[in-house]
Amino acid sequence: MKYYITTPIFYPNSSPHIGTAYTTVAADALARYHRLLGDEVYFLTGTDENAQKIVRTAEANHVDPRTYVDGVVKRFKELWKALDISYDDFIRTTEERHQNVVQQIFTKLYEKGDIYKSEYSGWYCTPCETFWLENKLVEGKCPNVDCGRDVELLKEESYFFRLSKYQDALLKHLADHLEFIQPVSRRNEMLRFIESGLEDLCVSRTTFQWGIKVPFDPKHVVYVWLDALINYISALGYPDGENYKRYWPADVHIMGKDIVRFHAVIWPIILMALDIPLPKVIYGHGWYLTKDGGKISKSRGNVQDSFELIQRYGSDAIRYFLLREMQVGTDGTYSEDNVVERLNSDLANDFGNFVSRSLAMVVKYRNGIVPCPGQDGVQEREVKALSNEVKKAVEKRLEACDPAGALEEIWRFVARCNKYVDETAPWVLAKHEEEQEHLDTVLYTFVECIRVMAILTAPFMPGLPPRICALLGLDEGIIRWEEADQWGILKHGLKVEKGEQLFPRIDISQYTIAEETKAVEQAQTQDQTISKTQDQNQDQKELTEPPALCSEFEPIKEEISIEDFAKLDLRVAKILSAEKVEKTDKLMKLEVEVAGVVRTVVSGIAKHYAPEDLVNQYVVLVANLKPTKLRGIMSQGMILAASQGEVLEVLMVNKDLPGGALVK
Ligand code: MSP
Repeated sequence: MKYYITTPIFYPNSSPHIGTAYTTVAADALARYHRLLGDEVYFLTGTDENAQKIVRTAEANHVDPRTYVDGVVKRFKELWKALDISYDDFIRTTEERHQNVVQQIFTKLYEKGDIYKSEYSGWYCTPCETFWLENKLVEGKCPNVDCGRDVELLKEESYFFRLSKYQDALLKHLADHLEFIQPVSRRNEMLRFIESGLEDLCVSRTTFQWGIKVPFDPKHVVYVWLDALINYISALGYPDGENYKRYWPADVHIMGKDIVRFHAVIWPIILMALDIPLPKVIYGHGWYLTKDGGKISKSRGNVQDSFELIQRYGSDAIRYFLLREMQVGTDGTYSEDNVVERLNSDLANDFGNFVSRSLAMVVKYRNGIVPCPGQDGVQEREVKALSNEVKKAVEKRLEACDPAGALEEIWRFVARCNKYVDETAPWVLAKHEEEQEHLDTVLYTFVECIRVMAILTAPFMPGLPPRICALLGLDEGIIRWEEADQWGILKHGLKVEKGEQLFPRIDISQYTIAEETKAVEQAQTQDQTISKTQDQNQDQKELTEPPALCSEFEPIKEEISIEDFAKLDLRVAKILSAEKVEKTDKLMKLEVEVAGVVRTVVSGIAKHYAPEDLVNQYVVLVANLKPTKLRGIMSQGMILAASQGEVLEVLMVNKDLPGGALVK
């Protein structure tokens, strides 16, 4: 059987983060599972590069869009490698193979009369790359729950796509294919949306040039969503490519809930208009939110470096966390504490411990040689029966794109294996001559349990099978899905070793404390170096010459270019609240408002200000500083202050400037 699975193609306007990684890890687990089933899998991911916001971000970084996206795409590929993502193809929408297909399809739809020329007059949200009618705006801003940002008025000649013509056909498809949009909550949302009436969609822009040109009217570029959705077939070589013939229609398009609407409305209508079969399933998962309920996203400044996380905890642990924590139909909560909690309990205590405990006993009681088992007792029969039940349940969950449910099922088996150790108590059996055959059976069953666990978890944690196989002295040939509920596969006489813990327990405080100390120390050394150098300069000057107004100023740091300076995003921010951080005398926690968004900033000013002196003041915020944890609080930026010796004064700005105003 063939299995074609896709992720959305990501906007390379900023590096990927742990939230965006979820979709790709989930798709990877499904792809790996289907490969284990023996299916012929095609797994596609890529980047969506023709968006207006790419041009804006590139401009803000003073580079051309091409150079900018090349840099970010590299980061995406590095992250996917670090997370063991086994994609078969990575499509970039700036590639010719994609552009040709988009132009071909645009022309075809135009010639068919499904695309026509008119004028667009309405609003556009660039961060969401979405057109909005006036009556949909919320207080004049983008109505997307996750956005709420400013929209721009557009009035330009545009091409339109006749969505309205296909409304009934789409509703019929939804009625005939209940599985088309999943989970059911998203299907219901989409039904309501389509039933409320589809408007024709503006599908070209003339006010910027970055993008795919409309071939017969090149002052227009194709609307980025029309362009992006086509990647799912352009990557396969539509219309004549072998892969297209082999793999289309897609078995699953997996994505976050925010973009289900584009996939459930625009995409099927494009395909209907082209007389192409529709994908089988569009699956919309929830978002990863922070503990305080905000979506993890670059624009909110709450993103933690994914590479650092993978380095700390390993790709398997991060994959396990992401897949385990996002339940069907709901959002998941991400925090580093939660990652460590899952790692310590599920991976170190339950999984890792079983493996090391049981192998240690084979080593201790049988010199590491797997013994020949005797007769099964009730407990062995129970363990075996459960493996069969769990395997079926995992298959069902994965067919429903539910990796969290699948892992939950697998951990029922892991728990049963741990219980089996306690029930059989091999350390007691070892003491009795007449129990030696029973001990052989138990030890053999242990090793078989490890094999079954390695197979069941292989799609989720691909780094595990090679490590487990190394402990068993075998190659990865033992990872055969169909054998996850079969027993007696391993040969007795096998030499195993205890090896190292698969998942050593982590002490989270080692990171948070180290990070806080590092950040506070850095801030202090910077303060000290600055004031020390200033003092030294001052001392020297006082000794050698009287202070003169025109004396030449010697910078204490290396010279930077204007481009270096332009990298700083300095903003006016209004302090909404201030409170001292417990158990410190230096740190103050501030909630500041910048361009309508509230941020938390931890600042070393508590010795110099009372909280009430700060509230309602306008200060200068370094808004693009990498967030860091201070005393367990994620600080999203830094406010500027002047200081010398014991004196410190926060830079404050006239109130006529709103929060968000640029400081240059
Ligand atoms: N370029 C479009 C997709 C075009 S597909 C033809 C796009 N890109 S995106 O980079 O903004 O988002 C890509 C995916 O990442 C979306 O599915 C989105 O839901 C997902 N996520 C972004 N932040 C996320 C979380 N915090 N949590 C989970 N998924 C998240 O939209």
